[in-house]
Amino acid sequence: MAAVVYPPRLPLARRATPLEPLDRLGTLLGGPRIWVKRDDLTGCATTGNKVRKLEFTLARARAAGADTLITAGGLQSNHCRATALLGARLGMRVHLLLREEGDAAPPARGNLLLDLLAGAEVSRYSKPYYRAHLQELYERWCDHYRARGANPWPIPVGASDGTGVWGYVGCAAELVEDFRKAGICPGAIVHATGSGGTQAGLTAGAALYGLGCPVIGMAVCDDAAYFQAKVRADLRDWAARYDPPLDVERLAIHVEDGYIGPGYGVADPEVFATIRQLARLEGLILDPVYTGKAFHGLLEEIRRGRFAGSADLVFIHTGGIFGLLAQGDLVNQ
Ligand SMILES: Cc1ncc(COP(=O)(O)O)c(C=O)c1O
Repeated sequence: MAAVVYPPRLPLARRATPLEPLDRLGTLLGGPRIWVKRDDLTGCATTGNKVRKLEFTLARARAAGADTLITAGGLQSNHCRATALLGARLGMRVHLLLREEGDAAPPARGNLLLDLLAGAEVSRYSKPYYRAHLQELYERWCDHYRARGANPWPIPVGASDGTGVWGYVGCAAELVEDFRKAGICPGAIVHATGSGGTQAGLTAGAALYGLGCPVIGMAVCDDAAYFQAKVRADLRDWAARYDPPLDVERLAIHVEDGYIGPGYGVADPEVFATIRQLARLEGLILDPVYTGKAFHGLLEEIRRGRFAGSADLVFIHTGGIFGLLAQGDLVNQ
């Protein structure tokens, strides 16, 4: 394998995260053993997958002399919360462009509560306006800060671009060692896919480090065609910027879009039942927006026999606990 040369990275995440088997669930299921890569432990308030990407994104921003981070997402975006907290830690101003989910003024809870606590500036937009004008909003706010002598740095939704891809290339490198220690050759690596960057990084990293199994993204919002295109675009951006020793055009991108449910951020009762089951059996907290949907999808696919030949499967726990707390009223219904 040719050497993988990483770009500069700020040490912001708790790494390496553990890989742990869900033995009590396994006994109940009687199927393949499910292992969880605990990326919910990358930090306390900075829990989840975004901090791995932001290590690279923020290193670039800093090197360019940026003092203001501008990023966007849903009102309960984990990515925005991680950016707000890490920006505070690095002494940078953070401005979040948030997409409202309903009409009512939303209470400051879950991720939004932490955004505000960390001192982030928050601008809210209706869903249709946000969808139609996001690029324009980025440009407008960058111009606003430049006019005041600041140096803004726009970060795409989910920090999913060629730079963010490195975060989960790095995770794949950890998995090599995890699999060796556990003595396993898993049949698949499964995770929630929302803006594509985690999947792009894991897909590239699995090929670079020879993990020997497919990476399957469980879509939580858009369909498989969307994610095929988005993950491919992030991989191309990565290849163009960094010239890694890998032909990204040859990488297969596996997306499962049968478990989106009613839509982004809205989960069916079965997903909440899975969240309760994992909390009670394993003390593991999933969320209704990302990991709960993806894990529920994994269990359903196991029941349907998709992984019948696999002794071991790996689930990447990408965090999201604050999104669960924002939907606390639905958890125990
Ligand atoms: C908790 C959690 N899991 C998974 C994802 C999906 O990761 P990505 O945006 O890289 O597809 C996100 C963000 O979208 C997230 O916040």
